[in-house]
Amino acid sequence: MKTITVGITGASGSIYAQRLLQYLNDSPEVARIDLVISQAGVRVVREELGINVSGTEPRVIREFIGVESGKILLHPASDIGANIASGSYLSDAMVIVPCSMGSLAAIATGATRDLVHRAADVVLKENRTLIIVPRETPLNVIHLENMLKLAKMGVRIIPAMPGFYHFPKTIDDLIEHFTHRLLDHLGIAHEQKTRWQGSKPKSTS
Ligand SMILES: Cc1cc2nc3c(=O)[nH]c(=O)nc-3n(C[C@H](O)[C@H](O)[C@H](O)COP(=O)(O)O)c2cc1C
Repeated sequence: MKTITVGITGASGSIYAQRLLQYLNDSPEVARIDLVISQAGVRVVREELGINVSGTEPRVIREFIGVESGKILLHPASDIGANIASGSYLSDAMVIVPCSMGSLAAIATGATRDLVHRAADVVLKENRTLIIVPRETPLNVIHLENMLKLAKMGVRIIPAMPGFYHFPKTIDDLIEHFTHRLLDHLGIAHEQKTRWQGSKPKSTS
């Protein structure tokens, strides 16, 4: 049974966080999910999904993922005394989805500003799995250097870049496909129907 930390920051793509949380909440392999949403993350969730995720009352999770959850513990981003702020609290992995360039920089430099960054800093110092889903375009040299620095430390940089080899017809197809890739990296089983099974090269003659 896994314990997973999910951080949501103020980059575009909060729908990916919503879908990942729904999968993690449903998974029999996941015992507990620690969730922290940055102040800007709260704003972007409101802008993109029309949901108010400020506060920590049960209403927030119910409105965000559609069901109440006994697995998800929502921490205020300002609570730098939360369990996930300490390496002595055992967790298997942390995913930051989506990750803003500001949070990426804070984590790459160790200049933690809130609980998202502190929890990531702890995951790094404890040598645990950290998955970052950066979102910005175009990327400047600072963004690229920060990603390279973290990748060299073993962080999995997994941008939400859609593939089209599975013939997506809807936005939901893209969200599902990408979320399945995140679950693969967390080692959590799921029923992905769009795995590439190989193809024969097309004859050019
Ligand atoms: C609607 C909206 C979308 C945004 N999208 C992005 C984005 O895709 N990438 C990014 O780096 N910042 C984006 N920002 C700006 C960040 O929210 C801002 O830099 C913020 O300070 C990040 O703080 P955080 O990392 O603590 O969440 C967006 C802001 C808003 C309001």
